[in-house]
This record gives sequence, structure tokens and C-alpha cells, in this order.
Amino acid sequence: MLGVLARITAKSAIMKPSSLVKPVSVTKLVGRYLVHQEGLPKLPVPPLRQTCERYLAVLEPIISEEEMVHTRELMDEFLRPGGVGERLQKSLERRARKTENWLSDWWMQSAYLEFRMPVVVHSSPGVVLPRLEFHDRQGQMRFAAKLITGVLDFKTMIDNETLPVEYLGGKPLCMNQYYQILSSCRIPGPKRDTVVNHAMGKMPPTHITVVHNFQFFVLDVYNSDGSPLTVDQIYMQLEKIWNSSLQTNKEPVGILTSQHRNTWGKAYNNLIKDKVNKESVRAIQKSIFTVCLDAPMPRVSDELYRSRVAAQMLHGGGSRWNSGNRWFDKTLQFIIGEDGSCGLIYEHAPAEGPPIVALVDHVVEYMKKSEMVRSPMLPLPMPQKLRFNITPEIKKDIEKAKQNMNIMVHDLDVKVIVFNHYGKNVPKSYKMSPDAFIQMALQLAYFRMYHHCCSTYESASLRMFKLGRTDTIRSTSIDSLRFVQAMDDPSKQNTEKVALLHKAVGAHRAYTDMAIHGQAIDRHLLGLKLQGIEDLTSMPDIFMDTAYAVALHYNLSTSQVPAKTDCVMCFGPVVPDGYGVCYNPMEEHINFAVSAFNSCAETNATKLAHALEEALVEMRDLLEQTPQAKL
Ligand code: COA
Repeated sequence: MLGVLARITAKSAIMKPSSLVKPVSVTKLVGRYLVHQEGLPKLPVPPLRQTCERYLAVLEPIISEEEMVHTRELMDEFLRPGGVGERLQKSLERRARKTENWLSDWWMQSAYLEFRMPVVVHSSPGVVLPRLEFHDRQGQMRFAAKLITGVLDFKTMIDNETLPVEYLGGKPLCMNQYYQILSSCRIPGPKRDTVVNHAMGKMPPTHITVVHNFQFFVLDVYNSDGSPLTVDQIYMQLEKIWNSSLQTNKEPVGILTSQHRNTWGKAYNNLIKDKVNKESVRAIQKSIFTVCLDAPMPRVSDELYRSRVAAQMLHGGGSRWNSGNRWFDKTLQFIIGEDGSCGLIYEHAPAEGPPIVALVDHVVEYMKKSEMVRSPMLPLPMPQKLRFNITPEIKKDIEKAKQNMNIMVHDLDVKVIVFNHYGKNVPKSYKMSPDAFIQMALQLAYFRMYHHCCSTYESASLRMFKLGRTDTIRSTSIDSLRFVQAMDDPSKQNTEKVALLHKAVGAHRAYTDMAIHGQAIDRHLLGLKLQGIEDLTSMPDIFMDTAYAVALHYNLSTSQVPAKTDCVMCFGPVVPDGYGVCYNPMEEHINFAVSAFNSCAETNATKLAHALEEALVEMRDLLEQTPQAKL
């Protein structure tokens, strides 16, 4: 079996990437996934001293010299031979020996399942797809039918274990997240949530859920012989769903899922006391994915269109619009509006963005091929409408959820821009990492707005390791600070600015390499802290230090999610006075989604987006005007 795997992975590594992800085999490859997973290295625990030294270096540009002196003292104490640092490190190393991945369970719990803020805006990312050309219900239905078959085609590769292995820096990646995104759902709990995955169960689901006018339906997407329904068949079923959900006065029960997790946990227990409700909820949780057929949203100018769709993806526009047309706990919800708006929202606990956009890329390509061929059809049964009995108490919970949702909708400021001046091509031509270049532009934009730099998070993939999720690339460094300060310093020559840019980009790329190889600092520090809690050690002072709180207060929370499709992922800020910035760098343009909260007087998504555009243009101009720029 290992030999087979070696051949398969080697083949996919040299395969020229085509837009449509093609299976590595036409037949099922039982056990291939597990063999691949077994071959992956375990996430290392970085050396203690290395992390502590790097942590101090990270703090330097974001805290004062006085605070630095204090933190150095705390660190000396932490690192004392035979001290608490060494003890925790040993415990952590023991945990790493005993588990498949010392971090993944802790991360899942602390970053997602114990996080009590609503998943809407605060956790679930959205994806904005290009505007579709239909403006009516038939177009909407036809598109939805094709999209569903595209997702089912991707699912076949997951089920058959024939999905090509992905690579980063020449190394094969953990493919586990692909097995978590379909047929799964988050379930609220009073203190912490859980995620159920029905794909691995004895009776994997054969249905998806479709929601229209706040009403949920079970749509069986497989024939009894196991073959998926055709586009034509799905279209007919969607028509039936549409026609039996014309009433618009239904209670938007799905909006309950947008509540603070404790509140929703309580409301959930109350909702499922009723047997009918419990079965309906279970049908949604168990479904392969959800398709939301949205009502048209208010028209906006072309310039604002993508920003408007980003908001629709992230929250649905409020209780008057499509916020009730969701089940936000569902891992994957595709959203298709009658007005041609399109995208998705996903619940973050089971996966990061890249597997989601890989699926999107496949579906988009697949849809270009699939046609509505009229095939002889056996009549299919009417999709089952899911019933909910709404008691006065549930009604009260829904009303509260509507109010809170509308507050979130008003608070979120999201701006999508297409930066058209250039894409990855320009930094590449100057032998710089495009990602690092974009991050430096963001540093410059932020510095110009605030005259200081801030703690910045960029997600780095840990998928080189078994069950790996992410670590943090800290984009703010001494080198980034020197570069942004120099840019507006009239005493600096262009050659010096260019040299500082190269140095800052190089430092960012070096941090990225360190992070993707499991040597970044943030998850290690979290691990030491959680190990302290588990070992019932009193909390070491370095974790009670204000510098640690500053380091974790990410005013800029950023992520690159590259896709072949001309789309962009979007998410909310992670702190009240921060920004969420996600980007998809294409060869000749870059799509950005910038978010902020309106309730914070100091932040403004549009301003940061414009400052970012200006910074990118200036950085290119600087390189063009400096003959020595090409190293
Ligand atoms: N000179 C010329 N070209 C260069 C270069 C240089 N010095 N450095 C990089 N490039 C090229 C690369 O070869 C690559 O080429 P391609 O377009 O043909 O693929 C391209 O530029 C992009 O490289 P870079 O910009 O450095 O980024 P990356 O692709 O290595 O990605 C991360 C960096 C951090 C985004 C990636 O490692 C990662 O971890 N991604 C996952 C993030 C994640 O999980 N996000 C989701 C959170 S929900």
C-alpha cells in the first residue's frame, strides 16, 4: 500500500495544476487517506529558549522600552534552570509523544468550541464569488442545481479517497480537513460546543438541506443505486421547494444560531425539547451541506456591490433580509441570491479557508462544463419540509436573536476592493515573496493611519504536520517598523528605502518559513500556558504580563486565502478596535476584504483599504524608480 501511495503522491506533485481538481484514480482507493496521514510528521514542540527569545524580539516594536525591561525580568525567571518553564516544556514534550498532535485538540477547544462570541461576524468566514448573470428565479435555481452537482463531484473524490494530495514548499500536506467539511455541524453547549461529523458514521447522509424564505427542506441528492441526481433532477426538486415556500411570514428559526453561544446553548435545549423540532434540527445537522436560496437584497452601485455581498455572506443583511435564511452552525452553507449574488459562509471549527476555496475552485470549473441535459426522469418524491413547533418561549428567543443580529449587522463595516494595478507578478519580478510584500503594504497603511504599528496576525498553515491547523506569522517586526518609518522620512534616499523593504520582506518570509515548519512562537506559548493549567501549576508571570495581552491584541488580523477563482474570503475583526483583512493575490490583481466595527470611532474599513491601495502603488513606484531595486 505504501508503494501505491508513493506513486500517487509523486504523480500529483508533478501534475501540472489544472483548474478542475481531478481525482488521482477513477476508482475508490480504500485506505489511501490513512496511509497518507500515517506518513506525515508529528508537530514538533519548539525549543523553549528559542521561543522565549523570539517572543522578546516580537514584542520590541509593539511595547515600550520600560515594559520590555519588565518582561525580560519575568522571562529570566521563567527560564531559570529547573524553573517553571523547563517543567512545563517537559510536560508538553510528554504530551507530544503521547498524542497524534499535541496542539490540535487544545486549539479546537480554545479557539473555537470554548469561544463564546456569536459565530456570525466573530468567527465564521464568508466567501464572495463574482456576480452571476441571472436576475430571476429560474437562473437562481439552475445555478443552484449545477453548484450542488459540482459539490457532489468533489465529495466523490473525498469519499473515494482520490483527492490529489496538496503540497506546500515541496512537502505533502495533511488532508484531514477535507474529511471534516461535509456532513458536519457545530452543536451549541451551555459552556462549550461540540462538532458532529456524520460522514464517518454508519449511515452517512444522502441529503442536503435547502432553505428558502426561512423554511428548511431535506433534499435527497442520491438515487437508490448510489448515483447522484443529475442537474436536471435537482433543478426540478428545487422548483418544488421554491413553490412550497412562497409564504414569507415564517418564523426565522435559523437566526437562533447567530446568538452568543451560551444563549444559543440554552435556547437550543429548549428548542429540541419538542420531538418534531429535534428531528428537524438533526436533519439539518446531518445534511451534507446547506444551500440558502436568498431573497434579493437592496440594489447598490457597482462599486459597492462586492462589499454588499460580503456582508450578505457574513450575516445575511439582518432579520428583514436573509439572516434567518441560514443555519450558522452548519459547516458549509452555499448562498445564492435571486439577484445573482453568490458565495458561502462556513463555520470555522472544522477547517481553515484553503480546503474550502479548493472546493469552490473545483465547483466553479465543474459548472463551466455541466449542462442542463434533459434526461428521461422518474418522478422524484417531494422534498420533505422540516417542521418547527414554535412555543411562546422559542418565539421570545427568536425575537432576541433578531435584535442582536440587527445590532451586529449595523456594527460590521466591510469593504471589498479589487486592487487592479498589479498582482503577484510585480513582487515576483523583484524577487520578493508576494505575500510578504502585501503584508508590508498593510504595515505601511496601518502606520500611516495611526503613526505606530500594532500586533499583527497572519495565519500560517501547519498542515505539513499530521492534523495540523495554523500558527501565527507575526508581520510586525523591527524590520517592518524600520521600513514603514523610512517610507515617509524625507531624509531617506530611495535606495535605502528599497533596501529596507527587501529586508522587511525577507524577515517576513523567514518568519513564514519558521511558522510553517512548526517553529513559530504563538501556539507553543499557548501550549505552555494550557499545560500549566492542566498541571495545576500557578500561572507563570509571563502569561499575566500586560505585554502578553498586548501581543495577543491583534489590531490587524490577516490571512491570505489564494484561489484560482476570482473570489475573496472575508471575516470580521478579532478585537473591538481592530481590522480583519483577507486577500486573494491573483497574478495581475489582488482581491481584498477589509472589515472593522462601526462602534469603534478609531477604525474605518474604507480608509484602511484606501491606505493599503496607496501603499501598494507607492511601493511599486519606489521599486520602478530605483534602478538598484532588482537585487
Ligand atoms: N521571488 C520570486 N517569486 C517568489 C518569491 C521570490 N523571492 N517568493 C515567493 N515567490 C512565489 C512563490 O513561488 C509562489 O509562486 P506561485 O504563484 O507560482 O505559486 C508565489 O510567489 C506565492 O508565494 P508567497 O507569496 O511567498 O506565499 P505562499 O504561497 O508561500 O503563502 C502563506 C504564504 C503564509 C499564505 C502560506 O504559507 C500559508 O501558510 N497559507 C495558509 C494560510 C491559511 O491557512 N489561511 C486561512 C486561514 S482561514
